[in-house]
Amino acid sequence: MSTYTEDKRKVTTHRLWEMKQKGEKISVLTAYDYMMAKVIDEAGIDAIIVGDSASNTMIGNQTTLPITLDQMIYHARSVVNATRRALVIVDMPFGTCSGNPLKSLDAAIRIMKESGADALKIEGGKEIQEDVKKIIDAGIPVMSHLGLMPQSINKYGTYAVRGKDEKEAEKLMADCLLMEELGAFGIVLEKIPARLATEISGRLTIPTIGIGAGSGANGQVLVIHDMMGMNKEFSPKFLRRYADLYTIMTEATQHYIQDVKDVQFPSKEESY
Ligand code: KIV
Repeated sequence: MSTYTEDKRKVTTHRLWEMKQKGEKISVLTAYDYMMAKVIDEAGIDAIIVGDSASNTMIGNQTTLPITLDQMIYHARSVVNATRRALVIVDMPFGTCSGNPLKSLDAAIRIMKESGADALKIEGGKEIQEDVKKIIDAGIPVMSHLGLMPQSINKYGTYAVRGKDEKEAEKLMADCLLMEELGAFGIVLEKIPARLATEISGRLTIPTIGIGAGSGANGQVLVIHDMMGMNKEFSPKFLRRYADLYTIMTEATQHYIQDVKDVQFPSKEESY
């Protein structure tokens, strides 16, 4: 099986909306480089998020905060170069969309122009509504990211489940409705109670994409390194590993080392 869909048309934000109306779940993964993006695009993924989780997975930082706009553009360009079908959504990194709409628009335009991406993802609610409005008004599709917002880790001090108490759940619902009203084409809901994600998804006409938000969201996203089992250190409850690439790659490397040491590689057939 090479693909899960016969529909090779480029996925648009409108297609995601249609999928929600039809009750078809939306599949999303992150990617940060050309080869990984090519594999998942050809496999039929609906959307690729070039997440600022690249800060952790590609650079080895402890948080998403240090990754720069230039680094995000570099990763986004690599993914765009590989992608034919999936919608490519790029994270605005920490500090580029935080209460100065003109500055935010400049950063947004840089990502769109220099990477060729289809859309942006922005963490935050009411506090950055003017920034989001400015960017959408400029013709740039925006996906909102609410619930657990890793860029705010220093404010919250924990990656625990959000929206558990009534006050936080109410603010989350209000932020979701506001983002829809501003024109966001979708919302990532990270690490919130399943019941709340289902309720939000029912109230909105735009699709929700959950990560640690249960099956009631309109789609699901996972970080590709976690989902492929390349990362052994991260095992949250919501993660399902679909492969064990860490073991496969370790064994392949050890096999190669042994062959080199034993002069088993290269063979005559592999030589000129
Ligand atoms: O940065 C990221 O990878 C994300 C996804 C988990 C949605 O925000």
